[in-house]
Amino acid sequence: MALTGKESIAVDFEELFAFDQALSEKLLEKPDEFLVHADNALYSQLGIEDAEYAERMEKTTARIVGLLGKEQLRKLGSKQMGKLVMIEGIVVRATPVRPMVMQASFKCKRCGTVSRVEQTGSFLRAPFECSDPSCRQKGPFEFVQEESSFIDSQDLRLQERPEDLPPGQLPRALNVKLVGTEIVDLARPGDHVSVVGVVRAVAPTMPGIGKLRTFILHLDANSLEVLGKEPETSLPSPEEEEKILELAKDPWVHRKIVSSIAPSIYGYEHIKEAIMYLLFGGVSKSLPDISIRGEMNALLIGDPGTAKSQLLQYVARIAPRGLYTSGRGTTAAGLTAAVIREKGGSMSLEAGALVLADKGIACIDEMDKMRPEDRVAIHEAMEQHTVSVAKGGIVATLNARTAILAAANPALGRYEPHRTVAENISLPVTILSRFDLIFVLRDIPDKEADGKMSGHILEIHRKGLSPVEAPIEPELLRKYVSYAKTIKPILSSESLKRLSDFYLAMRGASETEGSPVAITARQLESLVRVAEARARAALKKEVSAEDAEAAIAIMKKSLEEVGIDLSSYKMDIDLIMTGKPKSVRDRMQVVISTLMKMEKETGMVEKAMLVSELESEQKIPRTDVERMVQQLLREGTIYEPREGFLKKT
Ligand SMILES: Nc1ncnc2c1ncn2[C@@H]1O[C@H](COP(=O)(O)OP(=O)(O)OP(=O)(O)O)[C@@H](O)[C@H]1O
Ligand SMILES: [Mg+2]
Ligand SMILES: [Zn+2]
Repeated sequence: MALTGKESIAVDFEELFAFDQALSEKLLEKPDEFLVHADNALYSQLGIEDAEYAERMEKTTARIVGLLGKEQLRKLGSKQMGKLVMIEGIVVRATPVRPMVMQASFKCKRCGTVSRVEQTGSFLRAPFECSDPSCRQKGPFEFVQEESSFIDSQDLRLQERPEDLPPGQLPRALNVKLVGTEIVDLARPGDHVSVVGVVRAVAPTMPGIGKLRTFILHLDANSLEVLGKEPETSLPSPEEEEKILELAKDPWVHRKIVSSIAPSIYGYEHIKEAIMYLLFGGVSKSLPDISIRGEMNALLIGDPGTAKSQLLQYVARIAPRGLYTSGRGTTAAGLTAAVIREKGGSMSLEAGALVLADKGIACIDEMDKMRPEDRVAIHEAMEQHTVSVAKGGIVATLNARTAILAAANPALGRYEPHRTVAENISLPVTILSRFDLIFVLRDIPDKEADGKMSGHILEIHRKGLSPVEAPIEPELLRKYVSYAKTIKPILSSESLKRLSDFYLAMRGASETEGSPVAITARQLESLVRVAEARARAALKKEVSAEDAEAAIAIMKKSLEEVGIDLSSYKMDIDLIMTGKPKSVRDRMQVVISTLMKMEKETGMVEKAMLVSELESEQKIPRTDVERMVQQLLREGTIYEPREGFLKKT
């Protein structure tokens, strides 16, 4: 302590237990008494070791770490009141650091004598009577700030970790009070922490009525440790590790994993393959100047009743630190971070879903039904993997290294093949370009497939269990995934060659055409992530040519699904990324410029006038104009100030 200039020391509970079991048990039973003994013992020992340093210290604290067993947050109750416990959880809210008075000085207004009062509890306490024997008045007193001593304090709100949550339960939360310069400001919202402290119960006061009979629990922290950022999963047992390694040796391991993903859902092999890549994820790289995300994002766009929600719910359950939320009722603040006004008027920061799913997978269903202003909040999280807030005097950036699996319905409810992709997908371009893989799920009547699928679904209903058994059971798969995530595969030279050949061919093809850019650096990065994820799934340290080929295949599949013809090697990424092929974009531009020109004359433009102007002057068919106007309206480029009138936004 003296060497590092600290005012507290960590005491390992296990060592204490080994040294004197009876003492360690008393510490757990009567922490209020024995923590004071520990502090006193620490202070007198410090006096022996370094008297000079001890002289300078006002207070020294023994912080107990690593109790033998941890208490579950949801099990805390009257039995633990006054006991020392260890609790793990995720910090969802943190107040700023605030000074708390420890020893308050009060000046007697009658004689001027200053009395000092030790402060405990949550309210400031004045002396009972003046300390001057000749005065002994019971007030009034005046608080003297300069002569009082303060200590830093902070309140945290701790929530159960998603991985500890029993299925279908709401997470519980607990307030934690931190006191001391060395313990405050250690944890930020989103951090996973282990706290040792004394369970307290306080009766809330109703102004003018009195105290309530039901108490509220909180924890007075004695020590706090920020745990590793990796999702906490119980390490595989030796037998499980053996099973995992055995599985990885199987040449068909990828097939086995794919068929273990939601076996009750029929078909969708390529989507399940994409989910496999999403589960394992690529390797994140942090260079001195920039960092590149390893987590992937995927989007499923599909007709109603194509099992999208089921797939998402499944992934949220199977993924380490998985989380499911639906678009409606999901706000920007709930997804990212919120600044909350506390009772006392101070502001505190609360972590949202994407921060809580840091290093996990967030499944966002019904993304098309989110309000656009809420959806925008995801942009930063999807590429930069952080969440920033600057509001109410709080400026903060939190980590949100979350893979996102989203689902949405087509713009018109059902996918209309004769419309362009952009017209079918009602999501803004900025968000589409952040998805590594996009798939379209269409519900097309097909006699043979329908027969097989109905057989499959009816079988489920008859037996109450899946007709296809998963080769890997969910519990093992979960462990397999977290085991694999510790591996960081490196790209082999062959795999590099495949990927760069594909990339250059695509770009080359578009160059000779003199057409818009075909494939962008974003897709190249996506390819790398998929290839790495595939290597990881087989616990390989190197990305092979085969992995690269598979990555290229699924990327092609994804691009084809969104309406790109790959056979001619002509790809128009602009189509998905900006939503329109170049020719269409040019025409849209004509519509907009004509509208703006007419707007100069009349303020707002009658729709019928615009249509006939474009038809006669630009020779664009009436139906096409109507369609483009609808599209522009949906995008928000133009709007309808009044029925039948248009205006540029
Ligand atoms: N391929 C399939 N295999 C098994 N069950 C299926 C399949 N497709 C659909 N179902 C069943 O159809 C039902 C509807 O699925 P779900 O609610 O996931 O649809 P959705 O795609 O989310 O639809 P919406 O877009 O309307 O939200 C579920 O009970 C699901 O099990
Ligand atoms: Mg659904
Ligand atoms: Zn007095």
